[in-house]
Amino acid sequence: MSKPKIRIGLIGSGFMGKAHVFGYTTAARVFDLPFEVELHTLADVNDEAAAKAATALGFAHWTTDWRKMVADRDIDVINITAPNALHKEMALAAIAAGKHVHCEKPLAPIASDGRDMADAAESAKVKTQVGLNYLCNPMFGLARDMIAAGELGEILGYRGVHAEDYMADPTSPFTFRHDPAGGGALADIGSHALATAEFLLSATAGPITRVMGDCVTMISERPDGKGGKRHVEVDDIGRAFLRFASGASGSIEGNWISTGRKMQHDFEVYGTKGALAFSQERFNELHFFSTDDPRGRQGFRRIEAGPDHPPYGLFCVAAGHQLGFNDLKAIEIAGFLDAIADRRFEPFNFRAGLRIQTLVETIQASSRAGAWKDVG
Ligand SMILES: NC(=O)c1ccc[n+]([C@@H]2O[C@H](COP(=O)([O-])OP(=O)(O)OC[C@H]3O[C@@H](n4cnc5c(N)ncnc54)[C@H](O)[C@@H]3O)[C@@H](O)[C@H]2O)c1
Repeated sequence: MSKPKIRIGLIGSGFMGKAHVFGYTTAARVFDLPFEVELHTLADVNDEAAAKAATALGFAHWTTDWRKMVADRDIDVINITAPNALHKEMALAAIAAGKHVHCEKPLAPIASDGRDMADAAESAKVKTQVGLNYLCNPMFGLARDMIAAGELGEILGYRGVHAEDYMADPTSPFTFRHDPAGGGALADIGSHALATAEFLLSATAGPITRVMGDCVTMISERPDGKGGKRHVEVDDIGRAFLRFASGASGSIEGNWISTGRKMQHDFEVYGTKGALAFSQERFNELHFFSTDDPRGRQGFRRIEAGPDHPPYGLFCVAAGHQLGFNDLKAIEIAGFLDAIADRRFEPFNFRAGLRIQTLVETIQASSRAGAWKDVG
């Protein structure tokens, strides 16, 4: 039986634009999707960029006017992979045109904008997704299930970090990621660390209720791309102590100047009966320590991703052969399409993106005040 078509409009064809296309094309081959996916139109800033990317990525049409694309009645879904400051305007226009919207993180530069986006999507009854692809790792699902099943006992502590070094060079230029309205390491990648903390612990230790932030700018000016310098206001490192509803204590760090680190999205969870440790640098593994193991034989054991950890088995029948970064996007996209078809609730919708942005802003406010803050 033929499936209904779903037509995709993509805004932006950089790092994430490509990842979204890999996501759609892989998802269509790996999952039993409810739709036949058609890559319809790609929008980018100039003719050359848009035409080149549309051809390379397999879109039938291209445009330099994202507004025209969003208004096109033939398109069902808009994927936003443009700079953060444009997310709100693009998403609201897409929602007003009745499209389902996938928007990259951070959802919007400020939480009140994110709230407008979530409210608009809910009242228009369109489905939404925020790009929190790390949460789609089968090892994260396993970790969350183990924590919820009590295999770690009562949760006492949490440590999370997302560290990279793409801003460590002081001569690397000012980008949209330095935009005073919503940029900075905490918003850019600390948002992933916060999403992971709540994804893993919200069912057991509860949500994060209090934070104590420390956000610092270490490189205070960067080349402006026109031969001059531009002052940087946003943080290069954003750290926070966390308290969860249960009283469990934690910390997270978002850091884009950690020289040598390319993709350290790591967590450790400590409970009365066991612990878990994970590193994105070896993201097909989860390390589990159990106090039930006999003394003298205790230690972290390495669990390798395999078909026992859905949906790994749909990608590969053999354990240990490993998924890659773009496969996580495919899992995310498949969940989004299932939500559009009403097969499941939206996995990480705009309301979830708003929650992360609220945490980011509360940590920033706490850092400015030098005091603990309750999360609203
Ligand atoms: N989920 C993740 O793991 C992840 C990773 C990296 C980036 N991101 C997010 O993805 C978004 C894009 O980041 P990126 O690294 O892909 O950036 P990028 O600079 O590589 O790509 C941005 C693209 O948007 C295009 N663009 C800019 N203005 C536009 C406009 N007005 N109309 C149409 N196209 C426009 C650019 O030309 C470019 O093609 C950001 O919000 C970022 O935070 C998410």
